[in-house]
Amino acid sequence: MASAESRSQRVGFVGAGRMAEAIAQGLIRAGKVEAKQVLASAPTDRNLCHFRALGCQTTHSNQEVLQNCSLVIFATKPHILPAVLAEVAPIVTLEHILVSVAAGVSLSTIEKLLPAGTSVFRISPNLPCVVQEGAMVLARGCHVRSEEASLLQNLLEACGQCEEVPEAYVDIHTGLSGSGVAFVCTFAEALAEGAIKMGMPSGLAHRIAAQTLLGTAKMLQQEGRHPAQLRTDVLTPAGTTIYGLHVLEQGGLRAATMSAVEAATQRAKELSRK
Ligand SMILES: NC(=O)c1ccc[n+]([C@@H]2O[C@H](COP(=O)([O-])OP(=O)(O)OC[C@H]3O[C@@H](n4cnc5c(N)ncnc54)[C@H](OP(=O)(O)O)[C@@H]3O)[C@@H](O)[C@H]2O)c1
Repeated sequence: MASAESRSQRVGFVGAGRMAEAIAQGLIRAGKVEAKQVLASAPTDRNLCHFRALGCQTTHSNQEVLQNCSLVIFATKPHILPAVLAEVAPIVTLEHILVSVAAGVSLSTIEKLLPAGTSVFRISPNLPCVVQEGAMVLARGCHVRSEEASLLQNLLEACGQCEEVPEAYVDIHTGLSGSGVAFVCTFAEALAEGAIKMGMPSGLAHRIAAQTLLGTAKMLQQEGRHPAQLRTDVLTPAGTTIYGLHVLEQGGLRAATMSAVEAATQRAKELSRK
């Protein structure tokens, strides 16, 4: 087993899929942790090879990750998590900070599977963590100390925005932002396809659609304005935008988007009860 000092400098991942890789890449790119200080485990090499390509250490033993890292991020699919926690529980100590990204698995479920007093967090990340533009929330368990929450938040801010919230907001975040990436991609695709229909080449249309989303998002963030204000700025009386917006309203875009976030949130809640 590694010394306490070397354990505290390392970040472990149990589960090495898309989300683990996105967070690891964000941390490494931002210089918060060196690649060689990251240790990831998974049953096969299918995804571990991506970690090795980043310069990280890998293993097939989940327990080895706990033995070598104090901060461990659990990024398996939700239905696998209870068995994985039961497997590592015998070697969990009060020195560990354990973080779950599994959608729908509650803090109390996780705490019950681990020794009493273990520091546990839930985080809800989204895929843009990979380009350090993630939108994340974290919720703390009962035994977390303030300095542990600050340490984790500071680390995760390397992957984008990270705010601490009550656990009740985590499922809503999954609907808004975890699934929201797919909703926004659908809109970006449709935007580009409208232009393709009007005769623009596909590559150009997709590049312009993506940049339109990026630029609009930056204005919303940097100017701190409500989307309705920005939208009003683009509206010229009898101009192009109001003609287009009328069609979007007829298609029910707003109601459909609200219902999509509601449906994804309800599904996250439903999964958490299973
Ligand atoms: N993707 C998203 O946008 C998103 C957003 C928010 C939250 N999440 C959460 O993130 C978690 C991971 O999602 P993902 O999309 O990254 O899944 P994924 O790509 O399928 O990765 C799952 C990983 O878990 C590993 N695994 C399976 N059984 C294991 C075991 N017994 N011990 C250790 N590792 C094991 C898999 O191993 P192999 O590599 O050998 O297959 C794989 O590396 C989920 O709980 C999900 O709810 C995802």
